[in-house]
Amino acid sequence: MKLIKWNETMRLGVPEVDFEHEELIGVINALGDLLQAGNSPDTIQLLLGKIHAQIEGHFALEEKIMRDRGFVGYEAHKEDHDRLLEQIRDIMTEAKTLDEPTLRDNLAERLNAWFSDHFSTLDRSFHNHS
Ligand SMILES: [Fe+2]
Ligand SMILES: [Fe+2]
Repeated sequence: MKLIKWNETMRLGVPEVDFEHEELIGVINALGDLLQAGNSPDTIQLLLGKIHAQIEGHFALEEKIMRDRGFVGYEAHKEDHDRLLEQIRDIMTEAKTLDEPTLRDNLAERLNAWFSDHFSTLDRSFHNHS
């Protein structure tokens, strides 16, 4: 199951950034495929931890570029990044009580909503100013 569906509104028209976003979605989806019925709770926590780390890495890079350039939208953009990481940590807590299909649905729903919105608003304005 794909956790995030790529759609054309996510494309910013900046090739290196679009490449990184597509790559990030690919890795998240590959991990999502591993979240399959029968995995132990420990394995699920490990996979969610990897998703968190992968996303955190991309955010750290964007935040460094924004700080280096003294970008005015930095605080709001970082807050939105922190909001998603917090949601994933919440899911890691919920994962202890949810069955796997429900867990995958929750994760997919939240990641899709966040990425569609963030890519087409904050990332777009950030990259337009870069
Ligand atoms: Fe981004
Ligand atoms: Fe961003």
